[in-house]
Amino acid sequence: MSAICKHLISLDELSPDGLKQVLDLADRQKAAPRAHREAAPLRGKVAGLFFEKPSLRTRLSFEAGMLELGGHCIYMGPESGKLGVREPLKDTARVAARYLDALIVRVMKHESIEELARHSSVPVINALSDESHPCQALADLQTIREKLGRIQGVRVAFVGDGNNVARSLARGLSKLGGKLTLSAPEGFRFSEAFVKSLHDPGCVSLEADPRKAVAGADIVYTDVWTSMGQEEEAQRRLRAFAGYQVNLDLLALAPKALLMHDLPAHRGEEITDEAIDAPQSVIYDQAENRLHAQRALLTLMLG
Ligand code: CP
Ligand code: NVA
Repeated sequence: MSAICKHLISLDELSPDGLKQVLDLADRQKAAPRAHREAAPLRGKVAGLFFEKPSLRTRLSFEAGMLELGGHCIYMGPESGKLGVREPLKDTARVAARYLDALIVRVMKHESIEELARHSSVPVINALSDESHPCQALADLQTIREKLGRIQGVRVAFVGDGNNVARSLARGLSKLGGKLTLSAPEGFRFSEAFVKSLHDPGCVSLEADPRKAVAGADIVYTDVWTSMGQEEEAQRRLRAFAGYQVNLDLLALAPKALLMHDLPAHRGEEITDEAIDAPQSVIYDQAENRLHAQRALLTLMLG
């Protein structure tokens, strides 16, 4: 089997067909969990998880997925030292690639992943950077397709920060014919350069008023207003995003829409408890799909 991509720095590494291949395999493995455990296509393979920021879902789902495929993970958390401080990133990449079959990396600065990928002879996978979160988007796309039966023509209203999660979701949707309306205050929207870089720039639109953005949407999606690494801006962001909370009043304007959030949630800020537990919420199914989507990705990249 030839790998679908060398690295996964952003979803741009995957063609629309490659992206569909990941989602199809994710569905198949989810439906038949014994098959890949018995086949163990990654038996003897070892991935290193280099995480500069905390994680629950990403770490657990990569480690569990790798184990199910017969492989193993070694976790190098923030306590192992900040990447690029003890030695240059290029030395980290060159040496780690001698021991490992993949580097799965969560970093403060996106450029760190690019630098590691430039110098690693084995695949580098972006497990979140300030710029993007492609593995989250894989699970998001799988969830949308699973729940709605399609991605083509699906309308996502992303209410909140135009951040790493929003950018990766927009990139994924743009490859598969979906649409994303971002509802964010000024200063927290997509850059022109980002929109231009999309497979289909026309799939993204802006609607400052969240009530208008969610009306007619198939999916209402939100994420934290203050991402990891932005803690010093928290107060400014709380003020800027007032009025952008996803709560039952907002969801009442989109009664048929499904509600998504990548988690962790800052309950009471971007989303309320009641919204997370509303019947239209698919948030925990979405979290489960991190395992299925990434296990499929690992199978296709490393198998
Ligand atoms: N959604 C997500 O990436 O969660 P973690 O930060 O817990 O990995
Ligand atoms: N935007 C969030 C996503 C966490 C999974 C962050 O970067 O902290």
